Amino acid sequence: MPSTRPSKKSLRPKFTQQARQTLVAAGKRARQYAYAPYSKYLVGAALFASTGEIYTGCNVENAAYSSTICAERVALVKAVSEGVRSFEAVVVVTDNGGFPCGACRQMLYEFSPLMLVLVVDSDGNIKSELPLAELLPNGFGPQQLTSS
Ligand code: THU
Repeated sequence: MPSTRPSKKSLRPKFTQQARQTLVAAGKRARQYAYAPYSKYLVGAALFASTGEIYTGCNVENAAYSSTICAERVALVKAVSEGVRSFEAVVVVTDNGGFPCGACRQMLYEFSPLMLVLVVDSDGNIKSELPLAELLPNGFGPQQLTSS
């Protein structure tokens, strides 16, 4: 008898054009909360999880400069700390369309190496859209730690 339960695949939300726009708007909104009194470089990030939920973050700087955390990692730890570990895309919003730093690429790679990375400027223009694995070639991930 055919199952009436939808397959796991069909439950996976598609990163549609509408989701893209929603994610860009969420990243722009998150950027408004950036706490960057030292660099004055405001960053917003928004992750589109495979659950369909969106997790946002902004950079949070600190007088002890190295304690600063980037917007992408704020969004990521918010999601992971709520049990969400799979992502379709991340949007990073800066004034000039800057790319995510190496540490953020590495942290994101752990969970979803194939996620799309959308680099967006403060007007909402998408400057680049690439799979994370292309921004972190030969990335080091959990599979490297499994016995060969
Ligand atoms: N920053 C991010 O939030 N994400 C990045 O990927 C690059 C850098 C922040 C950290 C710091 O608050 C400011 O931008 C300047 O480096």
